[in-house]
Amino acid sequence: MKITTKINIMTTAWILCVLVAVNAVVFFSFMRITVNMEDQELYQRANTLIKEMKLDESSILKKDQLTPYLTGHSFIRIVKPGSKMNNEVTNDKHLAAKIKPKFVQKKEAERKIISQNNDEVQTLVVRVPIHKSGQVTAALEMGEKLSGFEMAKDVLLSILASSTILGALLALLGGRWLSNLIMRPISNMINTMEDIEQSGIPKKIVIQHETKDELQKMAVTFNRMIERLEDNLEKQKQFISDASHELKTPLTVIKSFADHLLRRGIRNEADALDAIETIHSEATRIQKMTERFLDLADTESGNHLEKKSLDLVALCQSIIKQLKSAYKREIDLHFAAPSIKVIADELKLKQAIIILIDNAIKYSTDKIDVYLNVNELNTVIKVKDSGIGIPDYEIKNIFERFYRVDKARSRETGGTGLGLAIAKNIMKQHHGEIKISSTEGVGTEAELFLPKS
Ligand SMILES: Nc1ncnc2c1ncn2[C@@H]1O[C@H](COP(=O)(O)OP(=O)(O)OP(=O)(O)O)[C@@H](O)[C@H]1O
Ligand SMILES: [Mg+2]
Repeated sequence: MKITTKINIMTTAWILCVLVAVNAVVFFSFMRITVNMEDQELYQRANTLIKEMKLDESSILKKDQLTPYLTGHSFIRIVKPGSKMNNEVTNDKHLAAKIKPKFVQKKEAERKIISQNNDEVQTLVVRVPIHKSGQVTAALEMGEKLSGFEMAKDVLLSILASSTILGALLALLGGRWLSNLIMRPISNMINTMEDIEQSGIPKKIVIQHETKDELQKMAVTFNRMIERLEDNLEKQKQFISDASHELKTPLTVIKSFADHLLRRGIRNEADALDAIETIHSEATRIQKMTERFLDLADTESGNHLEKKSLDLVALCQSIIKQLKSAYKREIDLHFAAPSIKVIADELKLKQAIIILIDNAIKYSTDKIDVYLNVNELNTVIKVKDSGIGIPDYEIKNIFERFYRVDKARSRETGGTGLGLAIAKNIMKQHHGEIKISSTEGVGTEAELFLPKS
């Protein structure tokens, strides 16, 4: 069932229930008040009659004087103890015949439905005791047809019933209009999503009115999500194009040297060895590059981190030991405390630190210093070299994928231009930062900031 239909049915049913309940309260209150008023009015008339006719002295009805006390269809009687009728005046014999006389000690009102000409008629009888020297000697009985009451009841019932039906109809129409109004942006969204599903092209929702409500918020969030998706798709495209471009050079070199070997064979041994060496080095470069691609994809996909508490001093000592023996370079570690605890993904943090030290090794020849410090907010890992440095205007670019300041030199050093992009992603995953400051010809300082909390 469509959500609009559901909303419609539910609101209508609810409003119908409310209307029925309110109308029932109105109806029963009206009945109660009217009945009470009628009882009181007839009592009052009976009391006036007793007083005016001085019934407590004689208990005899003087018929002609009583006529003004009779209403449309009514009777007046005196009833003696033992419910014996003493005296009666009436202008509706049929009514009088239907209601038996009754003697009472205390006043009472009685409602009775009698049938008359195949019709049911509501009647009201009040009985008021007549006192003589402190004793109840008789009772005055007054009865009348309540045709006005019946009519009022019927009119009220039909008004309430029609207003309920009208209310339900209006609720149904209003509910439909309201649910359509609410659902329009949602339907828009569904249509756009279906379009995206069919065409495979991300598309934004057109927001027609600035309603500033939850639905607009939902549409804005959806559009933001689509923007990110478009951005990611664009990045992906760019990455594939950059990566293929990067792979093209070594592959072309490999192919041309392999062609050379095929054409000339290995007759000239020195020549062949040279070709094989080049093929080997380019293949190694491709291998390194693909490893970097995988690292980049891993850090960009926002994969979860395996965070744990680790000692940064011990971690850096082991990294530096490995790099020192591999590159035969002087690398000094300076730390503020013998043990600095951080919460991080060990492998990824290690990777980011190696990227910085690897750059320092590649782009400098002198001693490299690694500093570990702790300030109020962060744990800071600083790698300082006295190498070629980076021109000021290039600093903003070096975190871009595949960006290398000096392509020729990078090729010599085997750089792919992905290291800093990976390190930046790793720091982002840790909610930290990476900063590089450098002076061309003087040296570079690269810092990783790991937030404490
Ligand atoms: N310590 C440094 N000294 C001088 N230049 C640097 C330094 N670190 C980075 N750069 C410059 O920034 C560029 C980008 O560095 P990045 O680490 O991203 O790539 P790469 O070192 O060329 O390749 P990869 O790290 O992927 O092997 C480098 O090519 C280099 O020009
Ligand atoms: Mg690098």
